[in-house]
Amino acid sequence: MSLFRIVYVSDAVGDAGLGLLPLIDIIGASDRNNRRDHLTGVLMRHEGRFFQAIEGARVDLDRLMGRLRADRRHANIQILAEIPIKERLFPNWAMAQADAPPALGRLLKGSLVDPSVPDQADRILVDASRAIAAIA
Ligand SMILES: Cc1cc2nc3c(=O)[nH]c(=O)nc-3n(C[C@H](O)[C@H](O)[C@H](O)COP(=O)(O)O)c2cc1C
Repeated sequence: MSLFRIVYVSDAVGDAGLGLLPLIDIIGASDRNNRRDHLTGVLMRHEGRFFQAIEGARVDLDRLMGRLRADRRHANIQILAEIPIKERLFPNWAMAQADAPPALGRLLKGSLVDPSVPDQADRILVDASRAIAAIA
């Protein structure tokens, strides 16, 4: 089965940008649904913005993107990368939550149409997957 990874950023709306409870809510639903749909990935939040990578089969990703686009807890979804992958970066995580590294702050401050953005995003994800694997 071919696998894809989608990476996007979005703007948190209202309370979704603040505190832990909204994050716990999102991770809880993600964990439940993504296990069912064989999706994996990581979610970070930084200064009112979300950065998420989701990996899995095309049909499951498309269905999730439909739900994400309808979710009023965030807006202005911008896809940074959408690529076929050979293997998952987060094989053991239906949806991991990670603190935003400084590199994410830099990426979000810059222009998202900069051609180096997909590579920057990739490096952030590879680092996060190693850090997560090290504590798992
Ligand atoms: C930033 C963000 C990331 C999300 N990530 C996921 C996800 O990975 N998987 C998922 O099923 N829902 C995710 N959601 C929630 C969906 O938008 C939607 O509310 C949920 O899938 C509905 O699930 P339910 O029908 O089980 O209530 C996310 C929401 C936000 C705001």
